[in-house]
Amino acid sequence: MCSAATALLAGAVLLAQPQANIESRVEALLSRMTLQEKIGQMSQSTSMATPVSDAIKAEIRVGRWGSFLNAGSPADRAEAQRIAMTESRLRIPLLFGRDVIHGYKTIFPIPLAQAATWDPDVVEQAARLAAREASEEGIRWTFAPMVDIARDPRWGRVAESLGEDPRLGSTLAAAMVRGFQGKSLADDESVAACAKHFAAYGTAEAGRDYNSAWIPELLLREVYLPPFKAARDAGVATFMTAFNTLNGVPATGNRFLLRDILRSEWKYDGMVVSDYNAITEMIPHAFARGPREAARKAADAGVDMEMVSTAYSENLKSLVDSGEVNIAEIDGAVRNILRLKFRLGLFDKPIPTPANAVPTPSSLELAERAATESAVLLKNDRKLLPLNASMRTVAIVGPLADSPVDQMGTWTMDGRPEDVQTPLAAFRKLLGNERVRYAAGLRNSRDLGREGFAAAVAAARDADVVLLFLGEEQILSGEARSRAFLNLPGAQEALVDALYSAGKPLVVVIMAGRPLTFHDVAAKAGAVLYAWHPGSMGGPAIAKLLLGHVAPSGRLPITFPRTVGQVPIYYAHLNTGRPASESELGVPMGNPQQPAGYTSKYIDVDFTPEYPFGFGLSYTTFEYSNLRVSSPVLNGGQTITVSADVANRGTPEATETVQFYVRDLVASVVQPVRKLRAFQRVPLKPGERRTVEFTISAADLAFYDQHMRLVTEPGRVQVWIAPDATRGLTGEFDLR
Ligand code: NOJ
Repeated sequence: MCSAATALLAGAVLLAQPQANIESRVEALLSRMTLQEKIGQMSQSTSMATPVSDAIKAEIRVGRWGSFLNAGSPADRAEAQRIAMTESRLRIPLLFGRDVIHGYKTIFPIPLAQAATWDPDVVEQAARLAAREASEEGIRWTFAPMVDIARDPRWGRVAESLGEDPRLGSTLAAAMVRGFQGKSLADDESVAACAKHFAAYGTAEAGRDYNSAWIPELLLREVYLPPFKAARDAGVATFMTAFNTLNGVPATGNRFLLRDILRSEWKYDGMVVSDYNAITEMIPHAFARGPREAARKAADAGVDMEMVSTAYSENLKSLVDSGEVNIAEIDGAVRNILRLKFRLGLFDKPIPTPANAVPTPSSLELAERAATESAVLLKNDRKLLPLNASMRTVAIVGPLADSPVDQMGTWTMDGRPEDVQTPLAAFRKLLGNERVRYAAGLRNSRDLGREGFAAAVAAARDADVVLLFLGEEQILSGEARSRAFLNLPGAQEALVDALYSAGKPLVVVIMAGRPLTFHDVAAKAGAVLYAWHPGSMGGPAIAKLLLGHVAPSGRLPITFPRTVGQVPIYYAHLNTGRPASESELGVPMGNPQQPAGYTSKYIDVDFTPEYPFGFGLSYTTFEYSNLRVSSPVLNGGQTITVSADVANRGTPEATETVQFYVRDLVASVVQPVRKLRAFQRVPLKPGERRTVEFTISAADLAFYDQHMRLVTEPGRVQVWIAPDATRGLTGEFDLR
């Protein structure tokens, strides 16, 4: 293995001032590069055989690749890096990227679940830990966070999103960037983050992955761009383009997005990578005649690095020779790539020695905390939960009760099933084997067979309470995993019916990658806990929640529909001219009376969601009182404080997530019925009362006008301090 000294010798001039003066180091290196070497830096490959093949070694020696993704073992990466840093002409280090999305070896809850924590601290720490584990194995770039606002649970990648709300999404996006990148990118334990997919990928029409996005610029700016801007402001090192077209133009060839907004408006000096084959996919999009035109359009739009497809390596030289692509564009892209490599300290570090990361007790403790905070209690009739001591025996049933891979969720190529603790294992450990009756009932979530029902019912009859683990397998959410139905798949509903007939109290735990529709199941259950795909430590987290070691504190980061036909449904909608009212609830089709009222609703299902954004129960009751607005008037340039008292009216210590919403009552561009502006997690001891304050300025009330200017207009503003998006204490003030 090569030493630090060799690496330093390799580029003595360039390495004279590590970290200082990166721009001059970039320029010095750029001036020595051939066009072919520049194009090499702009090319990222996924193929690296184990062990690294001779062909790839030869390509690395001639500077054919600037980066590899999702490739190789730690030893392969170290070997490839050694070749790049000692045997290539300019000794430019490779950059290894990987989808480290919600943990690396220690798997955290899926991002949507992390959003349900409403806890930037735990989200940041989880990203930091993932960065530590991944960097130990030679990975210095993750393709996360995915900050696409997602309001359509049919879309499989809703699992990878931070939910429906731009403010919650922005806060957590910034937390993830801070976690991945640490205080300095040059820190050995930091990885470059990647804000993806720029932009509007989450609005794929009909929830079908990769489908077109049609978003008016105003909505783009209000809803879909803010989390990207937050990531940029947090210093995110890279952006990834999206697969989709946006208003008819592929995001990967979109000058408006990549040059006008990202570079000109936001002054972003990081690096832009395409998504996987997204440059050549502009051909089936019918935006480019072939790879050559696709390469030209992507380079012209400002895509610095091509992921996997080879339109750049095969065409950029001749495009430059013919004058169709200006060498200045190539130099600009290469600067962005080299700048990142310098910022990561890759030139200044010894060649890595191969290492293997493994979960540790403290990493698993953090994963358990994240899983605990992410679970959302949706129903708890007659205080069935927490399970009390008189429940001597528990029946553990369901296809998700003991399924390590499914529990990890999407994007966990490095998580090992043997490091996962399932609910079954956790209950056996906490209660002792003799108090646990287990029968899966179904082999997996899609299983239609009923052969396992009899054993499941027998286990239920033999127990004081049934804990039923339902949901979706790992492979039902994530990329290219769109669903047209949102129900529990397979024979899961029939399993619920069979167990219901056993007459025992029924606790349903749902582990899934998206909001599902399960109205009838919830009606039969005494309690419902939504645990998402909770990662390595989901089992202990769920078991301790159900046993009352800790009270649930997760809140929904996305609206749960009653039925797929309501999608898209989200809390920050506009009012119509004919809003439906509460009095119109419960008038379904089938009622002999004429469906009443020409209002905005459905005649076959209530217009309200099954569970609203921000919702989540606890084992205690929180009381909100005494809303105060510090002044009746907010003058531009000043701030106003809105406060309320929040009290824990029950026995267990518990955490409430206090949410602050606003509404601009009349505006030249109609504003949503509510907009989340801030939130605080407030831990409260039994009987404790605390005053929770939110301070806002006119900037928090700004919106885009019809000419895309960010403005505030004088007028009346309504505010809420609330437990979710549908309730809360309200007050008003004038904005002048
Ligand atoms: C395609 C996905 O859209 C993107 O998010 C991911 O980072 C790349 N593949 C690399 O795996």
